[in-house]
Amino acid sequence: MLVSARSFAEYRAMFALTDRDLAQRILDCPGGAASFVAEAGQRGIDAVAVDREYASHREKLGLLVERETLFKRGQLMREAADFVWSWYGDPAGLLRERIGSARLFRSDITARPERYLAGALPQLPFADGSFDLVLSSHLLFSYGNRLGGDFHRAALLELARVARREVRIFPVVVYDTGERYDGLERLREDLAGVGIGSRVERVAYEFQPGGDEMLVLSCGGYRAQASSEPRVTAFDPVRWRHREGVSRRIA
Ligand SMILES: C[S@@+](CC[C@H](N)C(=O)[O-])C[C@H]1O[C@@H](n2cnc3c(N)ncnc32)[C@H](O)[C@@H]1O
Repeated sequence: MLVSARSFAEYRAMFALTDRDLAQRILDCPGGAASFVAEAGQRGIDAVAVDREYASHREKLGLLVERETLFKRGQLMREAADFVWSWYGDPAGLLRERIGSARLFRSDITARPERYLAGALPQLPFADGSFDLVLSSHLLFSYGNRLGGDFHRAALLELARVARREVRIFPVVVYDTGERYDGLERLREDLAGVGIGSRVERVAYEFQPGGDEMLVLSCGGYRAQASSEPRVTAFDPVRWRHREGVSRRIA
């Protein structure tokens, strides 16, 4: 699966993030080589990333993504007509932004390793309600042709378990086909059944034609059922600002 490197500005647009949203504790899952957490840190925003690739590649990931992005330049030029260029301007703009993000990611994961945790959906290494807002870009629905309905359901429930307020997922179209993920409405009904409300919202970002919508899950009324399997939890070395004074439930 492709590891990509989107920027803070792209996250802000993809997830329609307001200043109020950015004042909260945020999880980026999967973070890939995106510079969201790095640039958030520069602005004093409390954000953490989790990705399964952080288990093995970590510091090398930014460099690998940078090389891969350059390697794909030819393909991008050939397929340029298949995309919307209102954000990047042209393929050169996209390459510039991705490489810039991968570099910021690389220096931040070295400088602040505690902000980048290894973990894989559908089981994350965080206690319930660890974050106010969880952002998830270009994994769920995007890879809908490869990741089945059961995986999507389990992954969405897991993201909702660690979010106190909201989960936002972008986009809701499948990468290969450009079609809206066809199990979306069924998943929304399943989530409603366990107390997770949802809505699909248009945003001011489009690269894949038709990919300008995010799914928002409202998690305030959701309490995850205790798992019968032992949960893999990790101590997050970043201070739990909003949990200070609350008894720790982290293993
Ligand atoms: C296309 S990238 C998106 C990265 C970032 N959100 C962005 O927009 O630039 C997809 C990421 O999903 C990660 N990934 C794939 N399966 C995963 C899983 N089960 N749990 C967590 N991360 C996963 C990959 O390692 C990769 O970094």
